[in-house]
Amino acid sequence: MRCLVTGGAGFIGSNLALELEKKGHEVVILDNLSTGTRDNLEGFKGIFLKGDVVTHEFKQTFDAIFHQAAITDPRYSDDKEVMRQNVGGFRNMLELARKNKAKFVYASTANLYGNGPVPMKESQKKDLTCAYGRSKLMMDEEAEKRFGQMHIVGLRYFNIFGPHEANKGRAASMILHLAKQMKAGKAPRIFKLGEQKRDHIYVKDVVDANLLALNAPSGIYNAGTGVGTSFNELVEVLNRALGTELKPEYIDMPYDPKTYQLNTQANTDLAQKKLKFKALYSLQDGIKNYLEVLP
Ligand SMILES: NC(=O)c1ccc[n+]([C@@H]2O[C@H](COP(=O)([O-])OP(=O)(O)OC[C@H]3O[C@@H](n4cnc5c(N)ncnc54)[C@H](O)[C@@H]3O)[C@@H](O)[C@H]2O)c1
Repeated sequence: MRCLVTGGAGFIGSNLALELEKKGHEVVILDNLSTGTRDNLEGFKGIFLKGDVVTHEFKQTFDAIFHQAAITDPRYSDDKEVMRQNVGGFRNMLELARKNKAKFVYASTANLYGNGPVPMKESQKKDLTCAYGRSKLMMDEEAEKRFGQMHIVGLRYFNIFGPHEANKGRAASMILHLAKQMKAGKAPRIFKLGEQKRDHIYVKDVVDANLLALNAPSGIYNAGTGVGTSFNELVEVLNRALGTELKPEYIDMPYDPKTYQLNTQANTDLAQKKLKFKALYSLQDGIKNYLEVLP
């Protein structure tokens, strides 16, 4: 298959592009390198195009498009720019998929569930806390309108961690930030009082969900593990994996509690049924695998 991966120099896109190549597919990457880096693409043999998903016009045609490119930091300061790039890029790539009769898989987010009830179900009322979540919900709503006409799968990613995420800086996973502090012998810094929860999913499972999306019925599915882990529990898991006994340093939460997600956990029923997806890595196994390659 000839595949396009947008955002292929970023965290998830690079893991996906390299896995697609491993499976024998031809891969083209489009990335503007705003947060991504060519360093994530060591060993990549396909075509790399530096360009913008909002405006790029392709000479190539594709059988499948994996649209990962976006402004990914929920705290990005310019709301208009988030909408322009995220929704504009989505529309441009969706139109390309329509013209190419290509399968279209794109990245949505669990951010749009905000502080809604857990476990979070695809159909539940959305709780939008920022332009990032709004942009992704707009993408989901536009996708839904086309389900009868073409193959489209949206994946609502929960909190992903794993190799190739360092390029994201402050927006990288809390697992990376805490592991770095703890490896340096410092107390892991978490928000008071560490009872907030996250559904952490390993990037290899997310790549798997993208591959399964090619054969799933059009739809929007959660990509999470179904397990919520508190910040305190996460520190314990990291202590065990690193062989340390560091106690957390509790710091004041600097964000407005209305816009900060206190508790995320996926309901995985629909993804299991339609996407045939179930995360294979437990938090412990994912962290163990990740630490093997973490400098
Ligand atoms: N990592 C997570 O936990 C998570 C959670 C929910 C959703 N997502 C979504 O997954 C996708 C990938 O995110 P990521 O974590 O790999 O982040 P990332 O920042 O590493 O990757 C995004 C990539 O897109 C590129 N890009 C951004 N704007 C672009 C544009 N206008 N044109 C071309 N390229 C552009 C960046 O340079 C980068 O390489 C995003 O759509 C993000 O919203 C990620």
